[in-house]
Amino acid sequence: MIVNLLIVLLLIGLTIGAGWLLWRTLRAKKLWVKILGGLGASALTLLLAALSFVGVKGAAVLYAPGAPAAHSRDIPADPALVARGEYLVNISCIGCHSKVNAQGNPSGEMPLSGGWNIAAAEGFGFLGDMVAENLTPGGKLANYTDGELFRALRYGVDKDGRRLGFMSLLPYGQLSDEDTEAIIAYLRSLPPTENQISTGDRINIVGVLLFGSGMFPLPETPSEQVVAPAQAVNAEYGAYVATFGECRGCHGPDVSGVPASAMGPAVPNPRPLVSQMTVDQFIEMMRTGTKPGGAPFTEGMPWQSASKMTDADLAALHAYLSAPEK
Ligand code: HEC
Ligand code: HEC
Repeated sequence: MIVNLLIVLLLIGLTIGAGWLLWRTLRAKKLWVKILGGLGASALTLLLAALSFVGVKGAAVLYAPGAPAAHSRDIPADPALVARGEYLVNISCIGCHSKVNAQGNPSGEMPLSGGWNIAAAEGFGFLGDMVAENLTPGGKLANYTDGELFRALRYGVDKDGRRLGFMSLLPYGQLSDEDTEAIIAYLRSLPPTENQISTGDRINIVGVLLFGSGMFPLPETPSEQVVAPAQAVNAEYGAYVATFGECRGCHGPDVSGVPASAMGPAVPNPRPLVSQMTVDQFIEMMRTGTKPGGAPFTEGMPWQSASKMTDADLAALHAYLSAPEK
């Protein structure tokens, strides 16, 4: 962070320098110096001014995102809460936070010791490193209060209130208070595991500039309190299943597909396919990873996580994906 802030200050300094150069060339006696020098110096000043502006904005987005203070919370180790948390974490978080295999990719298995550098793995390593955290009590979360951990999930910020590069792009701010607490209760119940890999963000100046340029659509600021819709097989609850089921993280906020971006290739709209399917066909597809006609999902579509959902949750998801888009 310090290095990035120094570079942004340097950019501002260079902009002032280029502005001074421009002023000098415009006062030059020779006409050709005035014209050529003036054009060159204005182009340079404009470029540096634009970079400085985007740099300051990126630094604000990353280092001062303005999340409210963490509330004090004491989440009980209640067995029902822990069980709900286990269900949610095994559908969602495990895909990125499970222990890594020899290639450094998530193994999909316990413990949740993290270590996957998602930036390097998914082709945006030019932004710096974004390494999935160790979520067991053997990692840095041991130093978080329940309130700080709650705030990290709701607002995508760390203990110091700085934006978590990747987590803040995921839709966990829409998880209900109850489910967020369930996840925390479950994480606290895990056996502590240590991890030698250094985890967390190391975003470089390119990342700062890209965040400043608005390249990443940040989710809307979440509400202080979130209540889930009543559990039922309908589109409303299905939309909530798509939140904790991670479908939105890849298929976009409305689960209607996203175009290609710096964060990865395009992801299709699943609705046309799903609306032609019966509930049973849909559940079968999500449990086996095979589309009707026998074509398997490609590797980019993590059906293994969704296959762990209850029938009722999958049926709600079917209702949501076959309802008209809102
Ligand atoms: C798509 C991958 C992905 C998924 C899914 C994911 N995370 Fe993360 N998580 C990351 C990465 C990468 C980091 C490192 C910081 C960053 O870049 O956001 C991280 C960091 C964290 C941190 C550390 C916060 C801090 O203050 O440093 C917590 C806590 C966390 N994740 C919890 C969760 C939980 C709970 C879930 C499931 C509800 C989850 N994550 C799902 C990728 C993911
Ligand atoms: C990590 C990103 C990711 C997540 C999370 C994800 N998907 Fe996908 N999904 C993809 C990609 C990429 C494809 C295209 C590859 C393919 O069809 O095999 C895809 C394809 C699909 C298709 C097939 C679309 C078609 O017309 O062939 C359906 C249906 C689907 N996803 C539903 C879901 C549901 C429901 C969820 C949430 C439970 C979900 N996806 C979560 C990335 C993701």
